[in-house]
Amino acid sequence: MMSMLEFKNISKSYCMKETIMAPSKSVKVVNNISLKLERGKCLGIFGRSGSGKSTLGRIIAGIEQPDCGELLFNGINMLAKTNRNNKGIRRNIGLMFQDCYSSVNPRFTTKDIVAEPLLNYEKCSSAELTKRVEKLLEVVNLSSDIMGKYPHEISGGQLQRVCIARAIALKPQLIILDEAVSSLDVLVQMQIMDLLIQLQKEFGLSYLFISHDLQTIGKLAHEIAVMDQGQIVETLQDVHALHRLSHPASRLLFDSVLPMHPGGRKKFGCFNRLELSLIMIVNYFIFSNHLVVLIT
Ligand SMILES: Nc1ncnc2c1ncn2[C@@H]1O[C@H](COP(=O)(O)OP(=O)(O)O)[C@@H](O)[C@H]1O
Ligand SMILES: [Mg+2]
Repeated sequence: MMSMLEFKNISKSYCMKETIMAPSKSVKVVNNISLKLERGKCLGIFGRSGSGKSTLGRIIAGIEQPDCGELLFNGINMLAKTNRNNKGIRRNIGLMFQDCYSSVNPRFTTKDIVAEPLLNYEKCSSAELTKRVEKLLEVVNLSSDIMGKYPHEISGGQLQRVCIARAIALKPQLIILDEAVSSLDVLVQMQIMDLLIQLQKEFGLSYLFISHDLQTIGKLAHEIAVMDQGQIVETLQDVHALHRLSHPASRLLFDSVLPMHPGGRKKFGCFNRLELSLIMIVNYFIFSNHLVVLIT
């Protein structure tokens, strides 16, 4: 059966400029990645900061071109010259990024933000536009009173909902969520995750959920791919068994999650010599005046 999204051997290099310390060189940020995503499912991309997750997301969103590889959306090659700017295909992919405040125009009201994709892709009368924005806000559990407000006049959680409304405005099949809930406090994070799950069930949406946070990925994803230094180092089909992640890069992030109970925290005996020395050095600086000297 044909997958909704399939990418094969995607690679992308960036040229790092020459500095005093190092000559210019080409760095492979995404290295030969192949993955599949089925309709109505969520694929989680997990990895530490700088592992290339966002670059991969931007390639799939069509914001960036890979050096090589194939990107198939419902069997259509998105990288073919004729399809690159094809609005009919592109409208099926919605986007949402971590920092909602920087991904919206501060001079736009909530209504303008949600209406933007509708104005870009569809011809609607003014009355119809208002109605559709109202409906979209209702879907994300926001009242229509918010329509005249500016981003700085609403809370972070509300703005996140506005961005979800914008992302689903054109009824896309796929939404790319790049660290979409990472900047929110835990309570709002949970509310937004529940909303995403509800929307997925209601509209059969597929998500590409990019995050460095294993807990949020575990809640939403059906399958997890771990990225490290531009490569997929392991995949996990059963998200209820996160403890089975075995690659050192996965373990590092997994072990850094604080347990619910303080008693479950790492004991000193669990640290190796290098870790212990580092802890001692940090402690020394914190409890001596050296820190003040270092900062000033
Ligand atoms: N436009 C760019 N030009 C040069 N280097 C880039 C660019 N975008 C990302 N990088 C580099 O690529 C690496 C991966 O970045 P990114 O995809 O943002 O990782 P992640 O989202 O996993 O934190 C980083 O080392 C980053 O500095
Ligand atoms: Mg990123």
